[in-house]
Amino acid sequence: MRTILRAAAAAPDHERLRPFRFTILEGAAKDAFGLVLADAYDSRCAAAGTEPVSAKREKERTKLGRAPLVLTVSALRQPSAVVPWEEQLAAAAAAAQNACLAATALGYGSMWRTGDPSYDPSVKAALGLGGDDAIVGWLYLGSYRDGVAPHPNEPDLAGLLLPWPAP
Ligand SMILES: Cc1cc2nc3c(=O)[nH]c(=O)nc-3n(C[C@H](O)[C@H](O)[C@H](O)COP(=O)(O)O)c2cc1C
Repeated sequence: MRTILRAAAAAPDHERLRPFRFTILEGAAKDAFGLVLADAYDSRCAAAGTEPVSAKREKERTKLGRAPLVLTVSALRQPSAVVPWEEQLAAAAAAAQNACLAATALGYGSMWRTGDPSYDPSVKAALGLGGDDAIVGWLYLGSYRDGVAPHPNEPDLAGLLLPWPAP
């Protein structure tokens, strides 16, 4: 975890504002945070005037169990006249990607997930974030199950190169 966190904290960071924050959820903390996610789901349903679906609530409660450790990457908005929030978010996203790359280099699997809880003020508050801060991702980290190979990722470059001058 120290290697992964050092890689994450080495992300490009305009003006070295250090907007990225990390929360390690594992063991009992992961179970307890599942209750935060389930309660937040209930609150979102109440706010929307919809009836909670018990299977969805249960999914929220248990989903952190998909991996032995979930590293939450957040962006804590820093006051700056120079670095806009978009760049602070970009730095935190780079930190998340660095963490995934470091995990891969160490032989672990990683998956970056978001979803409704990432934007939920009560979930942010449970992580010590304010409404203006952001949860950039939930990084599910762990070993590959026996017999499961890393998913091949062969990017298609078609359409990614923009000509300049632009037509
Ligand atoms: C900001 C962000 C949020 C993401 N959220 C989700 C998500 O909630 N669920 C999901 O299945 N994949 C999500 N992804 C995509 C996965 O992290 C991953 O890129 C995708 O599953 C492809 O994996 P692969 O490289 O093994 O093909 C997200 C990616 C990013 C950058």
